[in-house]
Amino acid sequence: MASSTLICDTEPWKDLKEHLEEIKKTHLRDLMNDADRCKAMMVEFDGMLLDFSRQRAAVDTLDKLFKLAELCRDLVQAAHLREKISRMFNGEHINSTENRSVLHVALRASKDAVIQSDGKNVVPDVWQVLDKIRDFSERVRSGSWVGATGKALTEVIAIGIGGSFLGPLFVHTALQTDPEALICARGRQLRFLANVDPVDVAKNITGLNPETTLVVVVSKTFTTAETMLNARTLREWISSALGPQAVAKHMVAVSTNLTLVEKFGIDPNNAFAFWDWVGGRYSVCSAVGVLPLSLQYGFSVVEKFLKGASSIDQHFYSAPFEKNIPVLLGLLSIWNVSFLGYPARAILPYTQALEKLAPHIQQACLELVSMESNGKGVSIDGVLLPFEAGEIDFGEPGTNGQHSFYQLIHQGRVIPCDFIGVVKSQQPVYLKDEVVNNHDELMSNFFAQPDALAYGKTPEQLLNENVSPHLIPHKTFSGNRPSLSLLLPSLDAYNVGQLLAIYEHRIAVEGFIWGINSFDQWGVELGKSLASQVRKQLHASRKKGEPVKGFNFSTTTMLTRYLESWIP
Ligand code: F6P
Repeated sequence: MASSTLICDTEPWKDLKEHLEEIKKTHLRDLMNDADRCKAMMVEFDGMLLDFSRQRAAVDTLDKLFKLAELCRDLVQAAHLREKISRMFNGEHINSTENRSVLHVALRASKDAVIQSDGKNVVPDVWQVLDKIRDFSERVRSGSWVGATGKALTEVIAIGIGGSFLGPLFVHTALQTDPEALICARGRQLRFLANVDPVDVAKNITGLNPETTLVVVVSKTFTTAETMLNARTLREWISSALGPQAVAKHMVAVSTNLTLVEKFGIDPNNAFAFWDWVGGRYSVCSAVGVLPLSLQYGFSVVEKFLKGASSIDQHFYSAPFEKNIPVLLGLLSIWNVSFLGYPARAILPYTQALEKLAPHIQQACLELVSMESNGKGVSIDGVLLPFEAGEIDFGEPGTNGQHSFYQLIHQGRVIPCDFIGVVKSQQPVYLKDEVVNNHDELMSNFFAQPDALAYGKTPEQLLNENVSPHLIPHKTFSGNRPSLSLLLPSLDAYNVGQLLAIYEHRIAVEGFIWGINSFDQWGVELGKSLASQVRKQLHASRKKGEPVKGFNFSTTTMLTRYLESWIP
């Protein structure tokens, strides 16, 4: 069979297409009455419970999805999920368009693990950098590494964008609510400068003293225009206040490109390496996230986060598909996107601590893990996909989201939802006159929303409630709207690591089955190169008075207006 065989040409795919017609005749209201079905659609791992009984699926839908994942051994590119997972863990160059391994799992492997890339065990290199981070962050935190004027560095600004920003921000936001992490962060500040917008620079340096600030420049390539301009801006901020020699004490870097780090003026001894087998959006477990987070919370807290991610790596690698949380989530996404035709997914954590989870996972529109990974139109061998792949991820913590876009989810478009809840609040509040505590109140909504979506409300029910007839169409809820619920025991650094790895592997599963390359991101290049043409034009107009040329009418008009109205 040719290597360009698409998954949609396989028997299991066609079988699922036929099966879809059966599922279309069902309603979640009825499916939820079958306790055996519901029981079969719950999985537990390490204290967490995944309930996917509110998916528009029967038990045999899952069986058919497992077949899709496994039973295509005769086809070169179709599914082979188990083999593809192994190839990833074995360091094969599964990112074929960039000819690279995909080994973010090595970033959280234990010291004695052996994970090969290009014939070399990469784990010792990973731990060499982790040990260097442990040492450096302890020196900064204890005050033995001081700034140019002898003061301790208590504030950190991490400069980076995309994968060099969103993952660390997500973890930082989550850890900020963990009591243990909070104690470790006492007296320290961590800020993130991502946007090249000067407003973001101003926001980040406001209230900070260069004497007590450490800047971490985070860039895999060390060429990203926004990051490098922000790095030059903060280098200027430091050297104009403390002298150019202060840069050595106040600026460090995280990159795969240590040559450019040195050229920029950062001592390579103060650079923390990672490797081309770490995709930008999968890099939070490398120095990209570990360095800023260790400076803020201490290495031992971050090590727990890595251990959590590693626990899911083991589970993903070895658990049978029927009990494998990332595999189940990935397969259900395939079902929702490519069969039921739902193009979006809402990520709805019922904990404010996870407010940056959806922005990180989105890396889908342009810059989020899922959208950048699976937002592709061709198979891994360049064949145009005749089916929909990738989804639009978005989300907000509940209950906030309930007061904004949930109206659309309940009565407008069908958007499969991920509800994420936590049994034990990190910051419980008990008011003596309240019967139900604040966390119970939050969680009441977590439990209620999935049923509201699944069951809806019929005109008959409304009639029985004496609703006036003219309001019945407005108050009817069709229901049959799929969701899944993930209940975590708590949300400490370990669980945050688990959640991250679950989403990372879910995206890989989807890409493996769709037969696309989830690990490249050519789609972001065109915009970058057009921005570079505009940058050249701005330079030519400002320096040499050259008129705007080479753009279409619309862009020429806008650019001319911008240049004419510009006051330095
Ligand atoms: O915009 C695409 C991208 O290449 C992302 O994948 C990456 O995370 C981001 O830009 C930043 O790149 P770098 O870490 O090289 O600065």
